[in-house]
Amino acid sequence: MDSSILSKTYQQPQSNILADVCALAAKMDNVIDLSVGDPNFTTPQPIIEAAFEKAKQGMTHYTAAEGLPELRQAICDFYHSKYQLSFDPAQVLITVGAEHALFIALEAILDPGDEVIVPEPCFSPYLEQVKMAGGTPVIVDGKAADGFKIDAAEIAKKVTPKTKAIVINTPNNPSGNVMTAEEEQALAKLAIDHNLLIFSDEIYADYVMPGKQFTPIAKFAPENTVIVSGMSKSFAMTGWRIGYLIGPDWLIRAANDVNDAVTFSAPTMSQEGALYGLQHHDELVAPIVQAFQKRLSYLQEELPKISWLDVSPVEGSIYVFADIRATGLNSVDFADQLLKKAGILVVPGLAFGKCGEGFVRIAATQPLDKLEEAVEKMKKLTW
Ligand SMILES: Cc1ncc(COP(=O)(O)O)c(C=O)c1O
Repeated sequence: MDSSILSKTYQQPQSNILADVCALAAKMDNVIDLSVGDPNFTTPQPIIEAAFEKAKQGMTHYTAAEGLPELRQAICDFYHSKYQLSFDPAQVLITVGAEHALFIALEAILDPGDEVIVPEPCFSPYLEQVKMAGGTPVIVDGKAADGFKIDAAEIAKKVTPKTKAIVINTPNNPSGNVMTAEEEQALAKLAIDHNLLIFSDEIYADYVMPGKQFTPIAKFAPENTVIVSGMSKSFAMTGWRIGYLIGPDWLIRAANDVNDAVTFSAPTMSQEGALYGLQHHDELVAPIVQAFQKRLSYLQEELPKISWLDVSPVEGSIYVFADIRATGLNSVDFADQLLKKAGILVVPGLAFGKCGEGFVRIAATQPLDKLEEAVEKMKKLTW
């Protein structure tokens, strides 16, 4: 038997820019890895201990498919106290990470041919997920000149009778932008006027630079918004795989039906850890967020001193999207050469969409001294 048994979609291996660069890096020693969006911190100890304790007490079984009732309630309480948004636990579904949350929600709403608008540059799985769920992704190219802002007017141009949803991500991976309340209001109006859903990926909600503010778009389009978020980034819990959806109860019911056929419930011990984390959000998240703010401020200040690099202001997230057009190289060649010449691994902007060409994403997921080492190495390079 050979691979021709694979579905036609998977018979041609798809190009994966990030995987190619990482494969090269894996063969090298002493690489400074600024590619992955995985905070370098270990999950706060009290979360680990709370989950471990619950496991010892016998919390080793399935939970309800929708998730632990206490965790769904804790998510409602958190959104109420932090953002003054009121949700009912029936509007919350616990998932195996935010990525899984978005997929089951798309699967629940899309019929073949339905369109989903995706502003780029973006977290690359969005496009594949729309296609896997039977829809057609419709891309809106961001503009380097305005720092790749998500622009409701540009999105409006792509709305057709087949459009069902828009996927946004703020604070944004990779651009580092945070949508303003005015930008969100314009998008909310568009969604309401055209009866569209907004999938709002808020996984970096806690990562906002001083002076900037994140407002959930659910404030402006409560009936049209589906929040996609999770524990991975704020609590350095990427490996625990806990995310969630918050949306209209009819959508949550359908997404739960999809999920029933895929994973049933999210890991029980991880849900217990997430519950403890959310109940102690501020004290656990603050040190992690402060460390990232320091790193991003450092990169923001030092990178523009390199003649062939430019950086627009970072408003949030854990990334800097750096302009490398002055090198004359495309982003894939640049990343390849940066790795070979300086042992630094970054992600080519092309991995986030065609409009990301000429940029690279630098993740601040290494300690400050590693970032300093990387910057010193970059300062010595010429192209
Ligand atoms: C924008 C965005 N959404 C979702 C995810 C994945 O989150 P999770 O680990 O909860 O699946 C990532 C991870 O890098 C991301 O950058």
